[in-house]
Amino acid sequence: MTENSEDKIRLLIVDDHPPTRENIRKLVQFEQDIEVVGTARSGEEALEIARETQPDVVLMDINMPGMDGISATEALLEDVPFAQIIILSVQNETDYMRRAMLAGARDFISKPPSGDELISTIRTVSERAKETRKKLSKPVPQHELPGKMQGYGIPSRPEGKILTVYSAKGGVGCTTIATNLAIGLNSEETPVVLVDASLQFGDVSAFLNLQVKNSLADLASRVNELEEEIVQEVLMKHETGLSVLAAPARPEMADEVQADQVRKILQYLRRNFAYVIVDTSSTIDDITLAVLDVTDVLLAVATPEIPAIKDARLLFDLLTALDFPTSRLMFVLNRTDRRIGITAKMVSDNLKHPVHGDIPIDERAMLLSVNKGVPLLLTDKTSPIAKAMLDLLSEVKEHLLAAEDTELEDAEQDRARIFNR
Ligand SMILES: Nc1ncnc2c1ncn2[C@@H]1O[C@H](COP(=O)(O)OP(=O)(O)OP(=O)(O)O)[C@@H](O)[C@H]1O
Ligand SMILES: [Mg+2]
Repeated sequence: MTENSEDKIRLLIVDDHPPTRENIRKLVQFEQDIEVVGTARSGEEALEIARETQPDVVLMDINMPGMDGISATEALLEDVPFAQIIILSVQNETDYMRRAMLAGARDFISKPPSGDELISTIRTVSERAKETRKKLSKPVPQHELPGKMQGYGIPSRPEGKILTVYSAKGGVGCTTIATNLAIGLNSEETPVVLVDASLQFGDVSAFLNLQVKNSLADLASRVNELEEEIVQEVLMKHETGLSVLAAPARPEMADEVQADQVRKILQYLRRNFAYVIVDTSSTIDDITLAVLDVTDVLLAVATPEIPAIKDARLLFDLLTALDFPTSRLMFVLNRTDRRIGITAKMVSDNLKHPVHGDIPIDERAMLLSVNKGVPLLLTDKTSPIAKAMLDLLSEVKEHLLAAEDTELEDAEQDRARIFNR
C-alpha cells in the first residue's frame, strides 16, 4: 500500500529507554501507511515535539523521569486535541489504566509490544484522529461548542479576547462599564468571565449582588496547577450564567497576589472563554501593567471634567511610552451631560483622540442598579444610558476586528519590507 505523506498516520514515540524507542521504530518501519514523525525521551520533550509535529497517534510510556506518561497525556491533548494516545506499560494495575483513561488515553499495549498488535492498534485509533483532525480544521460552528468552560484551547479556534476597563482617575465608572459589558457580551456561544483585578477594594461582586467565597487570590496561589476543576470551584456564577472571578474579600489579601500570577490567570481564562473582561483599580502598579500586557482592547474611561480629562491625557502618554498600540485603545466618556456643555466632540478635539463611547449621566437609574446589584442591561434596555451601553458593546466588537486587521496589515508590511531588502 503506497500512501501520500499527507495521508500517512503520523506517529510519535515517547519512551525514556533508547532500545524501546528503536524497537518500536523497527516494528513499524516497513508499514507504508505509518510515518514516525518524532521520538521523545520524556514527557516534557513529548509536548514540545507534539506541538511541532502534530501527530495522529502517540505511543506513550508511563514511567519516565520527570513528567510521567499520564500527566504528559493530559497536557499533550490540550495542545493537540486530535492526537490518540496509546499507553505502553509493563504495569497491568487497574489504577494506572483508570488514571490513564481519565487523562484521555485511547488504548493500552503491554510491553514489549508484538508487531501485529502494535500496528493494528495504531491503525484503529488513527481513524479517530483523522476524523477529529478534519473536524478541527473547519471553523467550529459556535453552536457546537459545549457549555460552560469551553475548549478554546484547540489551536484552530481563536483565543478569547481580553478587554480591560481602566481609568487613571477613580470613581468615573469603570466597574459600571465592566459589569454591563460582561452582561451584554455573555451568551452561550460567547461565554464571558468578568475578572475583578481591582484587588484591594474591588466591587464587582457588589455590583452583581454576589457573595464572595473564593477569589482571585485563591487562583493566584495555585497558578501553576490551573485546571478546569480548580478554576470552576473559584469562579462564581451570576444568575445570567456570567462567570465572575472576584477580588479578595479583604484588602490585605491583595498583597499576596503577584503580577505574574495575574498574567497567568488571564492567559488561562482567555483559553476557556470568548471574552475576559477585566475591571481594574486606578493605580498604575505591577498588577495593572501585567493586565495591560495581555490586553486586546483597553477601554480608557473618563468623565467630562477637567481633572479626569487631564488624567486621560497622562494615560495616553504613558500608553505611548509603553508601546501600547493605539488600534487597541478605546476612549469612553461616561456621565456626559448635555446641560453641562462639555461634549464628546470637545473632549475628542482636546485630546486628539476619538471618543468611542458616550454614556449619559443617569443618577437615578444607576442608584437603583447599584443598590439592587442588578446591572442596567438586565432591567430597562430602552433607557438612553442602557442604549449607550449597547452601542459601546457593538463598538467594542468592531474595534476588536479592526485592531486585528490593522495588526495583520502591519505584519504584512513588515514582511514585505524584510523580503524587499
Ligand atoms: N453614567 C452614569 N450616570 C450616573 N451615575 C453613574 C454613571 N456611571 C457610574 N455612575 C455612578 O458613579 C459611581 C462610580 O462608578 P463606578 O464604581 O463604576 O466607578 P469606578 O471607576 O469603578 O470607581 P472606583 O475607582 O471606585 O473603582 C457609582 O456610584 C455609579 O453608580
Ligand atoms: Mg471600580
